[in-house]
Amino acid sequence: MPAGKKIIKKITTHVLQEMKQKGEKISMLTAYDYSMAHIIDNAGIDVILVGDSASNVMAGNETTLPITLDQMIYHATSVVRAVDRALIVVDLPFGSYQGNSKEALQSAIRIMKESGAHAVKLEGGQEVKESIERILSAGIPVMGHLGLTPQSIYKFGTYTVRAKEQMEATKLMEDAKILEQTGCFAVVLEKIPAKLAENVASEITIPVIGIGAGGGVDGQVLVLHDMLGINKEFSPRFLRRYADLYGSMTTAVKNYIKDVKTMDFPNKNEQY
Ligand code: KIV
Repeated sequence: MPAGKKIIKKITTHVLQEMKQKGEKISMLTAYDYSMAHIIDNAGIDVILVGDSASNVMAGNETTLPITLDQMIYHATSVVRAVDRALIVVDLPFGSYQGNSKEALQSAIRIMKESGAHAVKLEGGQEVKESIERILSAGIPVMGHLGLTPQSIYKFGTYTVRAKEQMEATKLMEDAKILEQTGCFAVVLEKIPAKLAENVASEITIPVIGIGAGGGVDGQVLVLHDMLGINKEFSPRFLRRYADLYGSMTTAVKNYIKDVKTMDFPNKNEQY
């Protein structure tokens, strides 16, 4: 090892399993580009999700449906270049795995081979079991995603809390157990009642990461641009904003414009 190089304990799927066993909470955030991934990895985040929320946050689409496999690979590749420690999970985009399990495997292989990421995530339970099995058979770790699954937004019709009714709650619990038995290393639960999420986390042995699913789970995930206050239009109850980057960036840009217009920038020390 070159002198002066830091030894970093990388986060693996096994480390996440140990964290659940020890009761240590798992932190997860999204990232879609090199610069942001570099900051959050250095800050010590455990898991980075290259989410298909890139479709909303980076491309300005209303839903996650339009983003393509090639675009996900582009985002993932940029994130992988920046990260030393975190586990990097990449969303399989809409249309890249639901059709048949062979296509699912091909999509997962492309993500792993072309980006260098560590795992993939996909939405659904029983209905995507065969795809999960096939992806796992190639040695690719899979994270599940249940509850509000944004790729099915046109089936749900709204982004409101899922599984409030008993039938849907029962199906969600069954699906979580299917994901565990099939071999997923973790599952995301999005926007469901806190009590149900807590029950799932205690009934299954794999880590449960919540978003809008209360504090009784094994870890939390948020969309980076939402928690940094870059994106102001999205304000669900579960979102805690840790910064107002929209505000600070607007002030910075306004100051820059003013300095350019008044010829305050560049000054003598800022030129050659
Ligand atoms: O794409 C995404 O950002 C996600 C999180 C909301 C979990 O799937």
